[in-house]
Amino acid sequence: MSLAGKRVAVTGAFGSLGAAVVQAALAAGAKVAAVDRADAPADAHGALAFGGVDLADTVQAKAAIDAATKALGGLDALVNIAGTFRFETLADGSADTWDLLYRVNLRTAVAASKAALAHLPDGGRIVNIGAAAALKAGAGMGAYTASKSGVMRFTEALAEELKPRGITVNALLPSIIDTPPNRRDMPKADFSKWVTPAQLANVIVFLLSDQASAITGALIPVTGRV
Ligand SMILES: NC(=O)c1ccc[n+]([C@@H]2O[C@H](COP(=O)([O-])OP(=O)(O)OC[C@H]3O[C@@H](n4cnc5c(N)ncnc54)[C@H](OP(=O)(O)O)[C@@H]3O)[C@@H](O)[C@H]2O)c1
Repeated sequence: MSLAGKRVAVTGAFGSLGAAVVQAALAAGAKVAAVDRADAPADAHGALAFGGVDLADTVQAKAAIDAATKALGGLDALVNIAGTFRFETLADGSADTWDLLYRVNLRTAVAASKAALAHLPDGGRIVNIGAAAALKAGAGMGAYTASKSGVMRFTEALAEELKPRGITVNALLPSIIDTPPNRRDMPKADFSKWVTPAQLANVIVFLLSDQASAITGALIPVTGRV
């Protein structure tokens, strides 16, 4: 799958999944801007790095996406990966957690996408990250799944909005991802069942490619053997 000539911005790019997507897009021939709230790592794998950006802040999001677009010489695609997780029951939790997860999981994608719309050409691409867990919430998963359900509804709405321009908007719904923090938190789990960042990145590269031009508004479970 080739992304030769494509200019791609990836948010949450210094995290576990983000780093894999940056590497896969570069390997497919894209030019990549890596945007994250975290500080830029010493090795950004050949991507242009933009650290210290809170994408939930619309002013910061616009400034970062504008700067990334300028550095790339244009923008063909945005991959919204910035996000986080909390497990919290209502009895033991805080209403503030609902605001936090809304802000980090949904508002970041909304703000970055709005900023990108000024640059994306007809036929451009947006890919979001929902969650398989958001298809039906379990105990302690209310705030997280509500925020990810928001990402999923946002994906559908924006896909419809952008159909006239041929810009596709899709979301991956991962189950638990095989990341170092998840291995630390669940040391007795069977890691071989978990979907890997590289497997998710392969699907994202496909969605960014010319071959995926007919897929939009799709919520795609990518769940390994879970
Ligand atoms: N890990 C899983 O099992 C799993 C399962 C399903 C879905 N997902 C979703 O997949 C995505 C990636 O997960 P991951 O495990 O790779 O997460 P991760 O390693 O924690 O990476 C997420 C990155 O997003 C950044 N970020 C958070 N808030 C931000 C903001 N306001 N502005 C800009 N950047 C921000 C984080 O920076 P900081 O370090 O500064 O916070 C971090 O670098 C997330 O959307 C997550 O919800 C993950």
